[in-house]
Amino acid sequence: RTLDWNPVVVEKQGFRHFMLKEIYEQPGVVRTCLEAYLDQDWHAGQNSETSPIHLNLSPTLTENLENIQILACGTSWHAALVGKYLLEQLVGIPTSVQYASEFRYAPAPITPHTLTIGVTQSGETADTLAALDLEKRRRGNLETKFQPHLLGITNRPESTLGQMVDEVIDTHAGIEIGVAATKTFIAQLIGFYCLSLDLAYQRKTLSEERIEEILDNLRYLPAQIELILESQERYIEELAHDFAETQDFIFVGRGINFPIALEGALKLKEISYIHAEGYPAGEMKHGPIALLDNKVPVVSIAMPGCVYEKVLSNAQEAKARDARLIGVTAMNDTEANDTFDNLLPVPEVEELISPLVTVIPLQLLSYHIAARRGLDVDQPRNLAKSVTVE
Ligand code: G6P
Repeated sequence: RTLDWNPVVVEKQGFRHFMLKEIYEQPGVVRTCLEAYLDQDWHAGQNSETSPIHLNLSPTLTENLENIQILACGTSWHAALVGKYLLEQLVGIPTSVQYASEFRYAPAPITPHTLTIGVTQSGETADTLAALDLEKRRRGNLETKFQPHLLGITNRPESTLGQMVDEVIDTHAGIEIGVAATKTFIAQLIGFYCLSLDLAYQRKTLSEERIEEILDNLRYLPAQIELILESQERYIEELAHDFAETQDFIFVGRGINFPIALEGALKLKEISYIHAEGYPAGEMKHGPIALLDNKVPVVSIAMPGCVYEKVLSNAQEAKARDARLIGVTAMNDTEANDTFDNLLPVPEVEELISPLVTVIPLQLLSYHIAARRGLDVDQPRNLAKSVTVE
């Protein structure tokens, strides 16, 4: 099966690479997704019987739902980890995230009240399709009245995945040409925020007021991402010069930003060929700290919230080993100023929303390091946009 778009018709519009263009498209992508899914007229306390989020999912999808398993690969797997955080913390549904390539040969025991979600921007990743196909067959054999659904989160609803699942959340990101996923990742995240808030509304695990507050915060996002792009890109381009010869990077984050540390490391590996690892910051002391010296920069995501002080103290432990510290922090965070050698400031947003802003400077950092090294950013060696073989 081939993907039915022609890259030639998508223009770079003055950007040096598609990846940079796609990074800049993110405010618009977030806006489009929110317009597609949010009811603009909904307000808390109006006794409306309908959810403020219109995903058009069948009601039977969530009835009797007891747990969720998410199957994905690569960047989509990282989006799934943020999804797990939201589904567990906002909706209280136990959620597991599996690599599709592992699941297909060692599937978790089947339970009847499990919703399975496949996340794949292309909808054509062979491992993800095989894992979902296995799940579909297993569920077909279940002797139960409850018919659990398969849900897909994809940028290509017409893809093989789209045809295989019962319901689709379309991420509306438009065609992505750069092999390293950027705008499709942020769109998958928005998909998970919408799904989690819709379930939280239906199951009444959050008050309507709290849901409205989170939705309002999501609506500020496009302008906040624009601000990061406008205020940070030049600085990050300069900063990238310092890492032209760097061989190893560590990315750390905690809680909802741990998956963003993984994503920051993956982006850097994919396009700059620099060895990079992402860790939950609290795990540094259990091994990775042995790697640190003045040649290994550490990027910490240190946003205000319940793990802020912990991340700062993890960063200080790295500093004591002479590591250069780069902090993704909230603008106006003066405490962070004393800890980090370089700051990548983002607007101060509530912790729950923060992955949607912290990922942006990490995309720019990996882009500029790779571009500085003169590498083929859009088509890195050994990688394919969509891996349609096992
Ligand atoms: C390939 C791409 C990655 C992508 C992964 C999963 O490895 O190079 O950027 O994250 O496939 O792709 P999917 O289309 O399933 O999201």
